[in-house]
Amino acid sequence: MKDFAKKLIDWHQQHGRKGLPWQGLKDPYKVWLSEIMLQQTQVATVIDRYQTFLVKFPNVQTLAQAPLDEVMALWAGLGYYTRARNLHACAKMILAQYAGQFPQLPEQLNQLPGIGQSTARAIAAFCFNHPASILDANVQRLIARTHGIQGSLKTRAENQKLWILADNLLPKDAQLMPTYTQALMDFGATVCKPTSPACQNKFSSSCIYLADCLAFKDQTVLQIPLKIKKVPSKIVVSEMLLMMDEENILLEKRPHSGIWGGLWTLPETPWVEIKSEKEVSQVEFKIDQFRHLISLANPAAYQQGRVLAPHKHVFTHRTLYFSTRIVKVSKTEVEWNDACHWIKLSELASIGLPTPVKKLLEDFQLLDRV
Ligand code: ADE
Repeated sequence: MKDFAKKLIDWHQQHGRKGLPWQGLKDPYKVWLSEIMLQQTQVATVIDRYQTFLVKFPNVQTLAQAPLDEVMALWAGLGYYTRARNLHACAKMILAQYAGQFPQLPEQLNQLPGIGQSTARAIAAFCFNHPASILDANVQRLIARTHGIQGSLKTRAENQKLWILADNLLPKDAQLMPTYTQALMDFGATVCKPTSPACQNKFSSSCIYLADCLAFKDQTVLQIPLKIKKVPSKIVVSEMLLMMDEENILLEKRPHSGIWGGLWTLPETPWVEIKSEKEVSQVEFKIDQFRHLISLANPAAYQQGRVLAPHKHVFTHRTLYFSTRIVKVSKTEVEWNDACHWIKLSELASIGLPTPVKKLLEDFQLLDRV
């Protein structure tokens, strides 16, 4: 498309968002921090929190040397806490691998914790004028609409197409990369919006690409990007047993194929499908449902076990609610088959556990035993 970048930059001069505290910066530390904060948090919320963070941690050294707890505390309320853990890990890595200087190439930045491909390109463009396009959801939508891409943007083929198109639209002059990149972000967020793009305004449909946009020409703007209807996921319930003595815990090694293949879990009943979430707490489990794994000399010990409220875990096509029953028995009162093993508590942190089981054991402070 002719003059795509020029039109966008001209638009930005007049209509782009102005005065945001991270705009116009060249310091990769400050740009990186803003991009990570803005990934899942609204601009208005980020403005304050960004400045507070920079007062406490003004550069990558202070962040890397801070205890993780302090970083987490400063992140409290922003949500998506993996971002804060990655931020800290990334700062440490920049000190260890790059002597405290951010690398300049997207391929290098993209190797660091928490920096995805689009964020890597944004940092490289803003700070080092690197000629590579970002492709966040706003930019994907803009390019898919202007170029009439009808398929799902989640497929590898369409995604690949978008990256190539995006790079072909860049301004020729690399000096313009920071403005162009900011303009892409602003235009997607304020003009080519998901459900109310400017072109669909009945009273004044205005957009710099009205004459070029293939989706506008075909009247398919609101159908792009294609939304794939989600198949409703099945709901299943199960019960896990937490059985341990002073030093060991009984775990089940999953077969290599299937869900959690090759990982260690708590001994678990087969999954029972239910129709709605209302039924989760109505399902009752019996010791018989564990007979493929264990049997107890005194089955009453099972009945007397305390049952913890169900944990929810969402898989791609299923939602699992598993409750946990704490059963107090000694090793001599249990028979177990080949799938089960007694594992030393001190070894728990170094074996492969599915995320929800790991979280549960962390809640019991079982993972940091030595
Ligand atoms: N979202 C992600 N990066 C941004 C930026 N630099 N300005 C405004 N919104 C953003």
